[in-house]
Amino acid sequence: MKPILVIGSLNMDFVVQTDKLPLPGETIKGRDFSTIPGGKGANQAVAAARLGGRVRMAGRVGQDGFGRNLTEGLASAGVDAGQVLPTAGVATGVALILVEREGQNQITIAAGANDRLEASDLEPSFQDFKQGIVLLQLESPLPTVEAAARLARRQEATTILDPAPAAALSKTLLRNLDYLTPNETEALLLLGEPPGEIRLDEAPDLGRRLLELGPDTVILKLGDKGAWVVNRRLSRHFPTYPVKPVDATAAGDTFNGALAAGLAAGGSLPQAIDFANAAAALSVTQPGAQSSIPTRTQVDRFLGEHRG
Ligand code: RIB
Repeated sequence: MKPILVIGSLNMDFVVQTDKLPLPGETIKGRDFSTIPGGKGANQAVAAARLGGRVRMAGRVGQDGFGRNLTEGLASAGVDAGQVLPTAGVATGVALILVEREGQNQITIAAGANDRLEASDLEPSFQDFKQGIVLLQLESPLPTVEAAARLARRQEATTILDPAPAAALSKTLLRNLDYLTPNETEALLLLGEPPGEIRLDEAPDLGRRLLELGPDTVILKLGDKGAWVVNRRLSRHFPTYPVKPVDATAAGDTFNGALAAGLAAGGSLPQAIDFANAAAALSVTQPGAQSSIPTRTQVDRFLGEHRG
């Protein structure tokens, strides 16, 4: 079993359920409010650990109650949080999330301590980490993400970048990646295309164009249309599993954590993608970020039921 290192964000999510998402300038009445552990990095770490991975995480939180709560949450999911550093003079990251009835959401983050994560923080996490799997996202400063990908390559690790929230990326970063896993918005932004939906018949060409930017493999995450995977040997659709959506928050994070856990356990890429599709589909059936991430047993049972 290969070790997994997640470098990224921890946020406390402030979540309000609504009947619809507000238009600019509009005030609407929401329903239930809850605070739920989140942050793309922490969500991916929890997913990889619940799904069987041996996981450590590097990140930063404030010296406050949310920071303690998030760090304890990681530990209780089985993640080694020894490199999640409490940081003086700054608040723990938060995310404001609106979730409407069909499960779609809108998210705004205030990065707080996540913005203090520096390249020099990462060295200890890479000790004894040869040939592991590194999970990255874009809620940390870009120079830190670039340094992480460089360090990972030096350690012969496999790097998986979730380019979320969407941002333009340097050629050097893209060339240091084994896997790039954009959703529709992120893929179109990276290609300089206007935002919109991606039809399945457009996916092979868009995937190939993303591959030309530098990563070894592109996994286009297409929500309920599944995933399209492109590399030098393969251009293939992996349909997902039909579920009744409640909340899509952290579905992409669950996918990436599950992908890492599947690869770390020695599964082939097609096996790991199918496992990740199932885990992400299950997460959509539950509310919240880390509260929605299934365990290995739940995913195995779900796959058993769907394979009949
Ligand atoms: O991907 C979902 C996550 O995005 C939420 O948990 C929120 O914290 C934001 O980081």
